Amino acid sequence: MAITKLECVTVEKQDGITWVMLNRPEKRNAMSPQLHYEMDETLRDLETDPETKVVVIGGNGGYFSAGQDLKMFFRENEKNPAGRKRAAEAANRWRWERLYKYDKPTIAMVEGYCVGGAFMQLLGTDFAIAAEDTVFSLSEVNWGILPGALVSKVVADAVLPRHALYYCCLGEAFDGKEAERIGMINFAVPKKKLRAETIKLAKKLMEKSPAVLRATKHAVRQVRTMDFDQSYDYLAAKGQAIKVGDPEDSYNTGLKQFLDEKAYKPTFQSFKTKDGGASKPAKGKKPLAKKSKVKSA
Ligand code: ACO
Repeated sequence: MAITKLECVTVEKQDGITWVMLNRPEKRNAMSPQLHYEMDETLRDLETDPETKVVVIGGNGGYFSAGQDLKMFFRENEKNPAGRKRAAEAANRWRWERLYKYDKPTIAMVEGYCVGGAFMQLLGTDFAIAAEDTVFSLSEVNWGILPGALVSKVVADAVLPRHALYYCCLGEAFDGKEAERIGMINFAVPKKKLRAETIKLAKKLMEKSPAVLRATKHAVRQVRTMDFDQSYDYLAAKGQAIKVGDPEDSYNTGLKQFLDEKAYKPTFQSFKTKDGGASKPAKGKKPLAKKSKVKSA
């Protein structure tokens, strides 16, 4: 069933970045079945949207998400197994299956609350930046369930076992700095810098060749569950696939710009992509040739 009007989600596109925000701030962006259906369709559509280079997932009103809606997702569906199944399928699909394999880079912009089921989208995205004063909590144990769907699994995969056990078993709240320390997010920043830092990361991602970035993020994800032989084989095949299916012809373009044109140093910068997305040198490093302009895609 196609959704014609979004109510629980807002979508805003700007300079290649698409901001997908949960939109139930009065409920701290707790996730209702309707919200899950809207997120599922929205992410599906954006994956092939030419204007969208990077997807940011956040929440309106300054709240990432207070997890599953205890009333609408749980209690009201207790006697409705069909409704519960449909909602759970959509919830799991967008928060994990879609995000984990997404063809475009994704960033979680986290602030306010990140509770319970919200850890799925937190860890399903490729990168996460949080405000230092965000309240994270795996609260499930505090109201009589375990971190379900895939929450226990994705938390256990993301951080060291002692951290996973501590926070899942105690349900103790922690802040952005602690989330950074234990590897739950990439970094924590003062709240007033959150949006600017998110844009900065998105722009860096847009400087890369989309095909190479896509293959790289898929590769890093997939090899986690492979042994060494499988990884050799998969990575070789994936590497060949980039050469065939890459409109940028990144490999040859990169070599040409480095070896022939002396235009950049791959250690510090990206080659200039067709889009014009070319990197600035790392801090303190001078560009070698003409300065390449960073242009938002
Ligand atoms: N499900 C349903 N409603 C929620 C949820 C939720 N997860 N979280 C907040 N709300 C609602 C509240 O019931 C309240 O509704 P009301 O205005 O109709 O009374 C409204 O959102 C605002 O919530 P408050 O508690 O008043 O806001 P406050 O900022 O003081 O606290 C907090 C926010 C800390 C998030 C608190 O609401 C809370 O602990 N919520 C439960 C969070 C939780 O345990 N989530 C995990 C669910 S389980 C899972 O995801 C698998």
